[in-house]
Amino acid sequence: MTSRNVTVVGLQWGDEGKGKIVDALSDVCDYVARYCGGANAGHSVVIGDRKFALHLIPCGVFRPHVVNVIGNGVAFDPLVAVKELTGLADRGVVVDHNRLAISAAANVVMPYHKLQDSLSEASLGDGKIGTTARGIGPCYGDKVNRSTAIRVADLIDPDLLAPKLRATAAIKNKMFAALYDAPPMDIDAMVNEYVALGRQIRPYVANTGAMLRKAIAAGKRVLFEGGQGSLLDVDHGTFPFVTSSSVTSCGVPTGSGVSPGDVGQVVGLIKAYTTRVGSGPFPTEQDNAIGNRIRERGREYGTTTGRPRRCGWFDAVAVRYTADLSGVAELSLSLLDVLSGLDEVKLAVRYRRGRQVVEDFDAAAMDGIEPEYETMPGWSEDITGCLRFEDLPAAARSYVNRVEQLVGRPVGFVSVGPERTQTIRHHTKIEGVR
Ligand code: IMP
Repeated sequence: MTSRNVTVVGLQWGDEGKGKIVDALSDVCDYVARYCGGANAGHSVVIGDRKFALHLIPCGVFRPHVVNVIGNGVAFDPLVAVKELTGLADRGVVVDHNRLAISAAANVVMPYHKLQDSLSEASLGDGKIGTTARGIGPCYGDKVNRSTAIRVADLIDPDLLAPKLRATAAIKNKMFAALYDAPPMDIDAMVNEYVALGRQIRPYVANTGAMLRKAIAAGKRVLFEGGQGSLLDVDHGTFPFVTSSSVTSCGVPTGSGVSPGDVGQVVGLIKAYTTRVGSGPFPTEQDNAIGNRIRERGREYGTTTGRPRRCGWFDAVAVRYTADLSGVAELSLSLLDVLSGLDEVKLAVRYRRGRQVVEDFDAAAMDGIEPEYETMPGWSEDITGCLRFEDLPAAARSYVNRVEQLVGRPVGFVSVGPERTQTIRHHTKIEGVR
């Protein structure tokens, strides 16, 4: 039997509007599970006149019937988790341990990870990655290093946490003093703070892999909520200007503890254009009036860091690559409304390096890549009120049709505004979606 689960992955460099589509699809799912990244993500959900920005807590929390899971593959920051849970409760969204389970095997982001992230970036000067400074890379570094890792199972047991944290923080103090001439961190204060945080987190901690496998065996439906975008994947992205986890649908089994056959139908998220935060190659970037216009109209400033995003045209070469990597069944196209008012719109259909045509995206060979564009007529109408595909102006419909052709996948949803209601169901085949 084919899996009824759904996986949502970003196909560009992140910020494709995952919060909105996860919120919409979680209506027909029983569980929503994060499997990669951590509080570097920024997922927005707009319900009526209320806007929520979540970094770590899954976006299924706005559906009372959904159980939310933070999987073992997540870099778990307890400070952010407690802050987000409190912020949600203050606004009437109470998420107790029946509605949120945190994997005991997830790795914990500690204060020295954030410090190392900032110190390392500052030392790199122009060569910096442009991270979110949330300690993501150093946390995953300790995971792979093993002996210096602190997992959620340690965090919630003071007898395990205190000695491990003391030993590791002492190593970090020596390292930071030697490498960056940094003053020592107060280890006693850190131990006290994290023992207290562990107490607050303990009620939520579970064997989430077993929980998800049992749920799937019982016929429940899981939505796997990707973070970041596939071009930031640690293996398949534009290395080294990437994040440190497995962002594509290939990360779902390892990051959540289910089998590869349970990834289900993969919905690939794209913006109608492209954005990128931080350093690294970006072939279709428009560092000009067009890019500025997209940034202002699309409010393209980071949800997590507030940084202005780099903006450019849609890149079909890159999206074909990431859609193939994740086995994408259908696309969800967001922010089409941002392109309204342009005389013409462009899409990159292939690359060139000098006179040579480059058909395939090669994340390891981006030097000298120049996009070749196809130009289409723009549209001037405000489309934010369109409820059906037929309501869109002809030029906007042609643009969406061309994206489908170039990527070779149907567009299931078209988003024309941030609100829940501003989503057009187009060619979606996701079971149960009305
Ligand atoms: P890190 O994940 O904080 O280490 O940052 C590595 C790179 O990924 C930087 O270019 C960040 O701007 C980018 N990045 C990380 N998370 C996100 C996200 O959720 N959206 C967009 N870019 C992200």
